[in-house]
Amino acid sequence: MDDQLSIINTKDGSQSISSKNFNATYHSIHGAIEESIHVFISAGIYYKFLQGYSSLKIFEMGFGSGLNALLASLSAKKFKIPIFYHSIELYPLDKSVYSKLNFYNQIPNATEKEFLSLHESDWNHSISINEFFRLKKIKDDINVLPLEKNYDLIFYDAFAPSSQAYLWEEKLQSKLYHALNPNASLVTYCAQGKFKRILKSLGYQLDQLPGPGRKHEMTRANKV
Ligand SMILES: C[S@@+](CC[C@H](N)C(=O)[O-])C[C@H]1O[C@@H](n2cnc3c(N)ncnc32)[C@H](O)[C@@H]1O
Repeated sequence: MDDQLSIINTKDGSQSISSKNFNATYHSIHGAIEESIHVFISAGIYYKFLQGYSSLKIFEMGFGSGLNALLASLSAKKFKIPIFYHSIELYPLDKSVYSKLNFYNQIPNATEKEFLSLHESDWNHSISINEFFRLKKIKDDINVLPLEKNYDLIFYDAFAPSSQAYLWEEKLQSKLYHALNPNASLVTYCAQGKFKRILKSLGYQLDQLPGPGRKHEMTRANKV
C-alpha cells in the first residue's frame, strides 16, 4: 500500500482514506458514508429526482475511494432512474488500497462485486455497472480536461481549499458552470465564503443547507 495513504475509521463506523501528500481525508472523519449520503445523494441525486428528472448525467470531481459512485449506483437501481456518471481522477488508488475498503458491509444492498466493478472498470470508456448506472471514469487532470456540456449535476468533491486552493478558484469553477445544463446543480460539502462568492458571481443561485453531522453548512448551487 502507498505509504502516503492509510485507511481510517470515521465516526459513523465507515472507512475512508487519509492522504499524507494532500494532508486531507477522502471524506469527513465524522462519518464518510453519512457525509456522502447527506451531501451528494440526498441534496444532489434525490433533489434532482424530486424535481422530476427521468435520467441524470452527473460529473464527479475526484473518483477517489468510489464511495460516492457506489451510493449513486445504488440510488439509480433503487429508483429505476438511469444515471450516466462521469468521474475524473488524476491519482487512481491502487488495488492494495481499494480492496481493503469495506463500504459494502455497511450499505444495504451494496455488494463487494459491484464495488470492485466500479474500481476495475476500464478508464475512459462508458461501462454498465448495473441496469440503471453507466460509469465513465476519466483519468485526467480537471484543470486540463475539456468538459462535455450537458451535465445535470456536479458532485464537487475535491480536497478542501486548505489542501488544493486552485481547485476552488473562479477559472475552474467557470469551466464547470459552462458544462452544466440550465437548471442543473452543483453540490459540495464545502461552504467557504470565498468559494460561495465565486459561485454567485458566475450566476448560480445558492441554497444554504445544513451540513452532515456536526457541520453547520454545505453548498448547493443551482444554475438558473
Ligand atoms: C475528496 S477526494 C474524492 C473522494 C471521492 N469522491 C470518494 O467518493 O471517495 C478528492 C480526489 O480528487 C483527486 N484529485 C486531486 N487533484 C486532482 C486533479 N487535479 N484532477 C483530478 N482529480 C484530482 C484526488 O486524487 C482524490 O481522489
